[in-house]
Amino acid sequence: MSARSDKNRITIFDTTMRDGEQSPGASMNLDEKLRIAEVLEGMGVDVIEAGFPIASDGDFEAVNEIAKVVKNSTVCGLARATKIDINRCADALKPAKRSRIHTFIATSPIHMKHKLQMEPEDVLAQVTESVTHARSFVDDVEWSAEDATRSEHDFLCRCVEAAIKAGAGTVNIPDTVGYTVPQEFIELINMLRDRVPNIDKAVISVHCHNDLGLGVANSLAAVGAGARQVECTINGLGERAGNASLEEVVMALRTRNDAMPYTTGIKTEDIMKASRLVSGVTGFAVQPNKAIVGANAFAHEAGIHQDGMLKHSGTYEIMTPESVGLTESKLVLGKHSGRHAFIEKLRDLGYDLGDNAAQIAFKRFKDLADLKKDVFDEDIIALVDDEVVRTNDRIRVVELEVLCGTKHQPPKAELELEIDGEVKSCKGSGDGPVDAAFNCIQELFPHKARLQLYQVHAVTGGTDAQAEVTVRLEEDGRTVNGRGADTDTMVASVKAYVNALNKLLVKRQKTAPEALSA
Ligand code: KIV
Ligand code: ZN
Repeated sequence: MSARSDKNRITIFDTTMRDGEQSPGASMNLDEKLRIAEVLEGMGVDVIEAGFPIASDGDFEAVNEIAKVVKNSTVCGLARATKIDINRCADALKPAKRSRIHTFIATSPIHMKHKLQMEPEDVLAQVTESVTHARSFVDDVEWSAEDATRSEHDFLCRCVEAAIKAGAGTVNIPDTVGYTVPQEFIELINMLRDRVPNIDKAVISVHCHNDLGLGVANSLAAVGAGARQVECTINGLGERAGNASLEEVVMALRTRNDAMPYTTGIKTEDIMKASRLVSGVTGFAVQPNKAIVGANAFAHEAGIHQDGMLKHSGTYEIMTPESVGLTESKLVLGKHSGRHAFIEKLRDLGYDLGDNAAQIAFKRFKDLADLKKDVFDEDIIALVDDEVVRTNDRIRVVELEVLCGTKHQPPKAELELEIDGEVKSCKGSGDGPVDAAFNCIQELFPHKARLQLYQVHAVTGGTDAQAEVTVRLEEDGRTVNGRGADTDTMVASVKAYVNALNKLLVKRQKTAPEALSA
């Protein structure tokens, strides 16, 4: 029996680049999305939701380019239940080897009345119309009942039945506002399986938000009740409190296969790679105690735990770090390490860079090794995330000089930026060295975004550690996070600010389509 026809095989649908990108502050450019798609495909994700083509030309292009390169996963685009959305989505997906249109409409009384301002019967008619229209382009159509968990059961059953009748092969039951609890969700899935006459003709999918911290628990409960597709995101990224996290769902199924006898096609050893990439691209740091991918997830500090671990790792470890791709942080490379060893190290860490990118990374590594005696895995990850995934940025840092300290008051900065290919420079001062450097950025690239967060942390220990700076900017309700790493905190700060500005430029092109709340 093939994996796909195995009744206990769970389809993993990743929506990091669609729902995840809708998180305030998370924006991804085309190159970044292509890298994420490559990693998701490599790790065995079944369906990659690459974006929402109607939302912006950038979203359209991302779905379209991903559709050209991804071969093993299904590429999916989101569309509201309108012809214009579905046509745009179908256009974006044209080059895909396997494509899916995902169309949705809200079915709860509160959404229909206040958001859609539509009568239930009109919503029902639109379900049939939109799915039929989507099926005129592709065989694989998913339909979602937005806010399903707050919908009236009779009406939800009628909508699900209509969607399947019109040709939806997957019916998604989202907990859009993260409101349900496991037992209630089990009952909802059971109710649909009992009452929708054609339910056997479709795969039941779930899409759980994490507002009460129950996204993963609800998803797993639904699987137990018969759902066979889970929608999730790397690092649990997503609207508000996020979505069920892919790594938690997959590792729970793997680790507790005795209690939940279901399989996925995910190569779990790629989990850390995906997590680091998404965190680097979005600037969303992973909380240290986050399950599976947090820095402390496999750390043992208490003496009694360390003692147990030394005697038998099973005493305190229910899964191995290797099973999620966590390699021990070793001191491997230094000033004399060659290109070959460096490329090997990158591969070990999960980066398979093209020649150009590898060359840039190697040069950065050599510069770093000149400044810093010990180069750790974390340093290499920071420099690759910092430099290599940002090759198409419109604004780039060329030079920075800062004068500060008790003799230089007020602190002064001299900055050179390349903006759309043209190098511009300026001198400025400020209340402190960071302020002076940021004032220069403002002068070279005037903008009205406000600085909401400036945060520095050391990538490793030691006074020669690289500083990793996070900058959050807000403009007209849009927020973006930028990150920069360098042994010089001022340089890292300017890189982080410039990274945030580049993200803002991407985000400015997006207009949130109306009546999409999740
Ligand atoms: O949360 C939600 O309901 C969604 C749908 C568009 C599937 O993201
Ligand atoms: Zn959602």
